[in-house]
Amino acid sequence: MAATKLTWLITGASSGIGRSLASQALQAGNKVIGTTRDISKAETTYPEFSAKGGIWIALDPAQDDAYDQFARCSREHDVDVLVNSAGYAFIGGVEDTSEQDVRDQMEVNFYGPLRAVRACLPLMREKGSGHIILISSGAGFIARPGRGTYSASKFGIEAVHESLWHEVKGLGIKVLIVEPGAFKTPFATRQAVPTAFKNGYSDGYKGTPVEAMLNMSRNLTVTPDWIKGDPDKAAKIIINATVGGYDYLRLPLGKDCVVALETKIGELQRDLDATRSIAITTDAD
Ligand SMILES: NC(=O)c1ccc[n+]([C@@H]2O[C@H](COP(=O)([O-])OP(=O)(O)OC[C@H]3O[C@@H](n4cnc5c(N)ncnc54)[C@H](OP(=O)(O)O)[C@@H]3O)[C@@H](O)[C@H]2O)c1
Repeated sequence: MAATKLTWLITGASSGIGRSLASQALQAGNKVIGTTRDISKAETTYPEFSAKGGIWIALDPAQDDAYDQFARCSREHDVDVLVNSAGYAFIGGVEDTSEQDVRDQMEVNFYGPLRAVRACLPLMREKGSGHIILISSGAGFIARPGRGTYSASKFGIEAVHESLWHEVKGLGIKVLIVEPGAFKTPFATRQAVPTAFKNGYSDGYKGTPVEAMLNMSRNLTVTPDWIKGDPDKAAKIIINATVGGYDYLRLPLGKDCVVALETKIGELQRDLDATRSIAITTDAD
């Protein structure tokens, strides 16, 4: 029996993981709505999208009016699957990062997906079905040096999705948090850094892991060789899970991500083992 065709709404469909998902969802005969901040640029870099029936919507998830646009789109196109993929990474030490840098990152990576989720939920609840998929990151579970702001945005939006997963379980709506490791997309070449400092870090952080992270991430014009993930393979796994079903909340992707997650889980376990005997002594007598 042929799989049911669904309507997908994918943010950041012009590039990278969003683009791979859009291509494969179209290929499988689904209806796909893709958001981009600049349709004419997206038409130039990804002309196959419209040619294969994809529908562009000009929308910046970081803007306040995105909620209304997402809500209109959800009803007009009867959206079944929401994928929040649009995002970027800010790399900078905690001390060197301005409040504005943090706000800008949160508008795109936290409030953007939140606007889309809140706007799509009413119709999904009415239908008693739907998929909410977040393209998070291994950085949604692990905070490396120089990545506090990026990780804060991903930890935060993962928390919202984990909570939502409990809330809508009984309402027919599925929630999936995808945690990619490093993937071969333009993402690494689009990272933002603190502009107040020549090399992206202040003098006090020379020789520290902040400098090492900035040196590795700053001014990349091509995707480095050590990045191994294939976005088409990621897209295939996500689509298969959506169509075929799954019984997990978080889906890590990439060997690098699996190793990093195992390391962090080990650290959490060690902390818990080291503190358990004092942690259980705080109940009132
Ligand atoms: N690639 C990786 O190594 C990797 C690893 C872990 C997690 N991720 C996550 O995967 C998601 C997709 O990333 P990708 O690798 O596909 O990156 P990408 O190729 O750079 O695509 C990112 C998309 O997000 C949109 N976007 C970028 N900056 C934006 C901004 N400031 N405001 C609004 N929209 C913006 C862009 O859409 P328009 O310019 O068309 O509007 C673009 O289509 C992101 O959420 C990222 O955090 C990626």
